[in-house]
Amino acid sequence: MSVRPGPTFDALTAELAALAQTSAAEPPVVTRVVFSEADLRARAYVKALCTEAGLSIKEDAIGNTFARWQGSDPELAPIGTGSHIDAIPNAGSYDGTVGVLGGLEAIRVLQRAGFRPQRSIELVTFTAEEPTRFGIGCMGSRMMASVLSSQQALALLDKEGRGLEELRAQAGFAGALESVALPTGSFHQFVELHIEQGPLLEEEGIDLGLVTHIAAPASLRIIIEGEGGHAGARLMPGRKDALAAAAELILALESAAKSSGAIDTVATVGVCEVFPGAVNSIPSRVHLETDIRDTDGARRDSVLNALATACADTAKRRGVRVTTKLVNADPPAKCDPAIVQALETSAREAGRTYKKMVSRAYHDSLFMARIAPVAMLFIPCRGGVSHRPDEYASPEWIAGGVDVLARTLAKLAG
Ligand code: GLV
Ligand code: MN
Ligand code: MN
Repeated sequence: MSVRPGPTFDALTAELAALAQTSAAEPPVVTRVVFSEADLRARAYVKALCTEAGLSIKEDAIGNTFARWQGSDPELAPIGTGSHIDAIPNAGSYDGTVGVLGGLEAIRVLQRAGFRPQRSIELVTFTAEEPTRFGIGCMGSRMMASVLSSQQALALLDKEGRGLEELRAQAGFAGALESVALPTGSFHQFVELHIEQGPLLEEEGIDLGLVTHIAAPASLRIIIEGEGGHAGARLMPGRKDALAAAAELILALESAAKSSGAIDTVATVGVCEVFPGAVNSIPSRVHLETDIRDTDGARRDSVLNALATACADTAKRRGVRVTTKLVNADPPAKCDPAIVQALETSAREAGRTYKKMVSRAYHDSLFMARIAPVAMLFIPCRGGVSHRPDEYASPEWIAGGVDVLARTLAKLAG
């Protein structure tokens, strides 16, 4: 069994391209927000491919999708693989999709090789890995792992004020939200294929990354309320400019991350909404969304604390009102040594080079790790670019990932 770009493998390349066309934006830009029309078309496409491959499909109450290749002993807990197909605005073609369509190709590789698994192999497409719509990442796997309760999920709203209940019903998903939670043991093991989203593998000319740890993400939402007014008539003394206060907080966060003492600490303010947003009007209200991550949970928390202190200081000094809401603060995950070992053996057998590494991005595996042993397999992406339309992984890189994933699934499924 060998996976190389060529006539058979070309199907996966074409499927990735077709999925990339299923977008709310003009190609090559991929925008596929959960429960949008593009997301629903993409789901239908992936399900059709799974059915064609003889997999049986189940969907849960929020659209997490399980496509099962039945094992010879269906009573045994399955081996899971998969990722997500939703994409942030202005994204590229490979984030998540390589794990879903590449996972499907790994199953087809095994089928073509005449392999018959003892444990079922289940390809999972997680709902809303990206936080675009509901402000929280990995909603599907979070609910599966009972990290987000149905009550908390019901309180989530998108920018238009539409809730999960309304949006999932419109997308055709029904049933008790409680039923999304899976008990530990539902999956025997889980392994996710993904692009690295960083530059190391390409820079070092290494085929594969075997992930040993997944960094701890957190997000704090900050609302700053000052005093609006005329940009010309209102003099500088006594102003309560909400955006000037926000600028201070953005810089305070950057400085806290830079001075954490570790290169692994990163912090970003990716959302800054200004009200009323008119050039001749003093901003009266600003909404910031912050993203703070570290491989060390305690160090991540100390940056969060520094930000909270800065919020209190700025509020006092500038006479503005600052309110915060902790959206999430998740612990890091450790990958399962036995699965990492299986990946390593498979990489060696396939003649692929590899290194062990940390995932700085979060993934559904971070939450699957709460209910099953997990590991992740990274492939290079050009220039380390991700979450951008020019995100790219070559067919050769993808083939390497599929090859080693297929070999690993065969080992795990017995
Ligand atoms: C996942 O998309 C992340 O932001 O790490
Ligand atoms: Mn992403
Ligand atoms: Mn992803």
